[in-house]
Amino acid sequence: MNGLFISFEGIDGAGKSTHIAALAQAFEAQGRVVTVTREPGGTRLAEALRAMVLNDPMDPLTESLLVFAARRDHICRVIAPALAQGQVVVCDRFSDATFAYQGAGRAFDWDVLRTLERWVQATEALGLEPYADAEAVLQPNLTLWFDLPAAVAAQRLAGARVPDKFESQPSAFFEKVSSGYARRMQEHPLRFARINADQSAEGVWQEALAAVRAKGFLP
Ligand code: TMP
Repeated sequence: MNGLFISFEGIDGAGKSTHIAALAQAFEAQGRVVTVTREPGGTRLAEALRAMVLNDPMDPLTESLLVFAARRDHICRVIAPALAQGQVVVCDRFSDATFAYQGAGRAFDWDVLRTLERWVQATEALGLEPYADAEAVLQPNLTLWFDLPAAVAAQRLAGARVPDKFESQPSAFFEKVSSGYARRMQEHPLRFARINADQSAEGVWQEALAAVRAKGFLP
């Protein structure tokens, strides 16, 4: 069985978490082995880098290098081996988040990010088939982008927990992040599905499930 790589994206407060768990269960019910993981994170080193990225002030290039370093470790140790074994990898964020947060949110150079992405995600060096990407750059087979207005996300986050560096950003930052996701969707139309996250949890789940079924990944 071929490996399958699905990522969840969206601004903070978009409500990805419950649906990640539900999607993993749906695949397990089909007899698939599922690895649920997240970025930045998913390995000891990447989780250590995550703590720095989420809490320490730094310039956008430093931030970009750290998230890509975390990603490299995560791909080598977790994602690539799981895909090679034919598993389903469900990942809470992947490189689209770097383009959205560092590229659009922090106005960091999009082309530099593309160069870093090509280095970090080159499928040939990872011994992987070029999953759904003619550039031979590892990408998810499907990216579920949970899209909702920044103001709605801010309301959901308010008072929920102590905000980290990103969660404490103003709505204007998240509007830019959303525009970054929209740009990535334009650049990668085949693997992106935009989910309307500004509706009931059940409505969001039905849309997400329909997107996965439309790809033929679930019956
Ligand atoms: P999470 O709260 O959804 O787990 O994501 C962690 C935070 O890190 C979130 O605010 C988005 C941010 N982030 C980046 O800025 N760049 C990245 O490349 C990734 C993966 C996440």
